[in-house]
Amino acid sequence: MKIALGITGGVAAYKAAELVRRLQQEKLDIQVVMTRAAREFITPLTFAALTGQKVITEMFGPPDAAAANVESAIEHIAVAQRIDLLLVAPATADILGKFAHGVADDFLSTLYLATKAPVIVAPAMNVNMWEHPATQANLALLRARGVHVADPDEGYLACGMTGAGRLAAIEAIAQKVCSVLGLRHDFEGQTVVVTAGPTCEDLDPVRFLTNRSSGKMGYALAEAAARRGARVVLVSGPTDLPVPEAVDWVPVRSTEEMRHAVRERAADANVVIMAAAVADYRPAAKQTQKLKRGDQPLTLELEPTPDILAELGRDAVQKTSRRTLVGFAAETRQLAESARSKLARKGADIIVANDVTQEGAGFDTDTNIVTLFLRDGREIPLPKLPKFDVANRVLDHVLEIQKTSR
Ligand code: CTP
Repeated sequence: MKIALGITGGVAAYKAAELVRRLQQEKLDIQVVMTRAAREFITPLTFAALTGQKVITEMFGPPDAAAANVESAIEHIAVAQRIDLLLVAPATADILGKFAHGVADDFLSTLYLATKAPVIVAPAMNVNMWEHPATQANLALLRARGVHVADPDEGYLACGMTGAGRLAAIEAIAQKVCSVLGLRHDFEGQTVVVTAGPTCEDLDPVRFLTNRSSGKMGYALAEAAARRGARVVLVSGPTDLPVPEAVDWVPVRSTEEMRHAVRERAADANVVIMAAAVADYRPAAKQTQKLKRGDQPLTLELEPTPDILAELGRDAVQKTSRRTLVGFAAETRQLAESARSKLARKGADIIVANDVTQEGAGFDTDTNIVTLFLRDGREIPLPKLPKFDVANRVLDHVLEIQKTSR
């Protein structure tokens, strides 16, 4: 994963070198961006040497190099799109003010406006500057906008005063980065099988039955589990999504293919998450030739597909496996009743249910509004969240179930 580390002009700028080292342990690819003031405290060469990458210092290149000028002028957009996180450490009162008010007069402040990646600021400054209502108001504004803050520590400050304003500990900043990026290692040693997307049931050589599933929820789960250290097998129906990094991707088309792939991979899995929108019915007889148009109404005979989740659930009942099983339920009515009945019927440990008629939930959205139904009777409604965050909440509950059933 790629992050941008913005370094601004404070004495704590020297600590950013240590921070780079610590973040490299998380296998992060780090693009350093330094403000002009930061370069008064520490040279770009230090960071170029540590990261092996050119440090970005200017919005515009040298005046004589016209081509380089154009390149650097649009570079903030390229960097903004490439990064998974923008971290600013140390963040001065000045940069907090710029971020809060949309001032974009150098590379870092422009990058902040141009990126959609999450942002963490780690403020460091003199105690009076920290406590000033202007700084606090700017921070409140940034927090309200979703910016994460690694709060400064209290202690002896470089200016000779004692109080709040010392850059948060390197480890605390690194932990914050891991938590925002979902880089916990709590699934290390586990194999997680995730299914995603729709399945397609062929009617004849050119037509098929399918549904509107985009696969986004399943892909988010696969990515979240991989980032948390799991070995992930992603069994996916047809989708347009890029395959997440470090995931064993098994493309399938029909329910039968998905069933085969899941059963084979589930044998040594600790967790199976059925996020796929599996077709419930398939044509009873597949035509080998294209169906011809006629004048009469056409009736298709459909037969039920095998229920993959229920089959795995039966293994659990027969105690041939101790896998944690998670199912999904996309409903348009009677959410709780349907979810509870699926929980029992399919032998799942968790059913993640959503009402797909709600705005911001269901198919092809980047967010979801779900309620988790747990085997122990608990019902946990989650607010509207990005699918990646929903994925992490589901995984948190998987771990909790594993702990209590040990
Ligand atoms: N599922 C499955 N195999 C099927 C159908 C569904 O494994 N043939 C899984 C889905 O991946 C999902 C869960 O079962 O995790 C619930 O799917 P859903 O279609 O909501 O359940 P159904 O049993 O089909 O119930 P409904 O009558 O609501 O369609």
